[in-house]
Amino acid sequence: MDSNELRKIYLEFFKKKHHAIINSASLLPENDPTVLFTTAGMHPLQVYLMGQPHPAGNRLVNSQKCIRTGDIDEVGDSTHLTFFEMLGNWSLGDYYKDEAISMSWEFLTDTKWLGLDPDRLSITVFAGNDEIPRDEESVVAWRKMGIPDERIFYLPAEDNLWGPAGETGPCGPCTEMFFDTGKDSCSEKCQPGCNCGKYFEIWNDVFMTYNKKDDGSFEKLKQHNVDTGMGIERTVAVINGMKTVYEIDTLVPLMEKVKRLARIRDQPTIEQENSIRIISDHIRASTFILGDNKHLSPSNLGQGYVLRRLIRRIIRQGNLLNIKQRFLPDLAQIVINLYSEVYPELERNEDFIMENLTQEEKKFTTALKRGLRKFNQIYEQTNTLTAENAFLLFTSFGFPLEITTELASEKGISIDLEVFKKEFEEHRSLSRKSTTGTFQSGLADHSNITTRLHTATHLLQQTLRNVLGDHVKQSGSNITPERTRFDFTHPTKLSHKEIKQVEEIVNQKIKEALLVKKEIMTPTEAKKQGALGFFGDRYESNVSVYSVGDFSKEICTGPHVTNTSEIGRFIIQKQKNIGTGLMRIRATIE
Ligand code: ALA
Repeated sequence: MDSNELRKIYLEFFKKKHHAIINSASLLPENDPTVLFTTAGMHPLQVYLMGQPHPAGNRLVNSQKCIRTGDIDEVGDSTHLTFFEMLGNWSLGDYYKDEAISMSWEFLTDTKWLGLDPDRLSITVFAGNDEIPRDEESVVAWRKMGIPDERIFYLPAEDNLWGPAGETGPCGPCTEMFFDTGKDSCSEKCQPGCNCGKYFEIWNDVFMTYNKKDDGSFEKLKQHNVDTGMGIERTVAVINGMKTVYEIDTLVPLMEKVKRLARIRDQPTIEQENSIRIISDHIRASTFILGDNKHLSPSNLGQGYVLRRLIRRIIRQGNLLNIKQRFLPDLAQIVINLYSEVYPELERNEDFIMENLTQEEKKFTTALKRGLRKFNQIYEQTNTLTAENAFLLFTSFGFPLEITTELASEKGISIDLEVFKKEFEEHRSLSRKSTTGTFQSGLADHSNITTRLHTATHLLQQTLRNVLGDHVKQSGSNITPERTRFDFTHPTKLSHKEIKQVEEIVNQKIKEALLVKKEIMTPTEAKKQGALGFFGDRYESNVSVYSVGDFSKEICTGPHVTNTSEIGRFIIQKQKNIGTGLMRIRATIE
């Protein structure tokens, strides 16, 4: 069974169980201020787990593009990937433990579906702590499926209390399903959860029952939810009896291409294999990030910096493999071909992907050569490499810290990360700060001021389209109580006259006291009515559409004011060219 087949039957199974198939959300989260990328299928659904009704109903299923960079140093071993697809099904206040467990069991073991040998499956459940009780209900449900007690394991919070995805939000006890690969136990203590490779985790059912608050305490959610996650890559590896995820259908073509580029004809050495794996993983992650509708480019800040690190690491690993030619676009093409049927945005954003990879490769290939010379020179002169040197390599040669760390560790030197961080933070704040303050729909909070700015942003987008033309499309938005920041496609800066005109029209619409209305409809209907927004790429689940009088209509999750007169006076503060064909406007209200 390959990835396409697994994805297909998973969606089909849950559709039969009355779940609406929803699209994968963007890799760049809108609902969470504390993380840079979407790390799980539940991530974009947090507001719905908290109680807001989802337009597609209370049973959902999808395959979600995910990025996890926490384990980036583990990439190259048998299971860790930075990019992966997560299959998930959700109950938003509908079914709970019994039904979730029975559906998981049926999908895993029924020969109509995965048909795994039930005797090779074992289960973990939450052992309980001072705040949240032991999960006896799940145990009862598993016994009903015929799982004997000796294959049910009670694990502590660090293993079986899942979430929140960021620092606060929905979370709860989980029950995980493990497949016994048949390998010998590594020790007497070997059990599901052990990392020796005997037990492969294939599915996680989380019972989202609590909201973790700022002060670290848990409060019960209004509703009982289910959130499940099955990683496609791992599961395909397990059901095909493969030893690593790099043997599956969506990674092999990349691994093979890298080998050809590096002219490796025989069995690669361990070091070569490691480089081949890192390149194959990172090119998937980079292509998917660049292929996102939000058009994020490599930069020195936040998400853009993670993207830059991924791309530059590919180039450095390519250099280690002695690949002489430019090779990133060729690899990205393989990713696009493999996935564009499922994630059509990749094809749509192909030019953007290729242009950014080409630019970054060009820039860094030259910098890498010069930087390596500098590195060797410092090393020869001082016989070491300090954090200050690492910082110089970062600022002058664009060496991400990991590259310098890798180079240094090859020479047996470890860099004082604390000193580097201090240097770094004095100059620029790395990742989180830049995204702190992004909440639902790019809102920092749901206070009245951000809600007013949010509706003003809808007026701004429509006005820009009226003044500049229909090529104007939102490519990102971020709202804090101080201002709204709106990124959009347009080739040049606006003239002074255009800025004034845009400001006047928005203020005119505010004065007209237009009513704001929310409706739920199918994406087809929304499109027919001319609503702006990212349309469902594949699946037809309902969306919410906000109209401001007859002036603007957008697919959006809200919240908004009910009447534009609540907004106040709209003022454009700044504009900036933030990339080829991309402008940014910063505006506020009084
Ligand atoms: N959100 C859960 C996970 O990522 C299902 O494992």
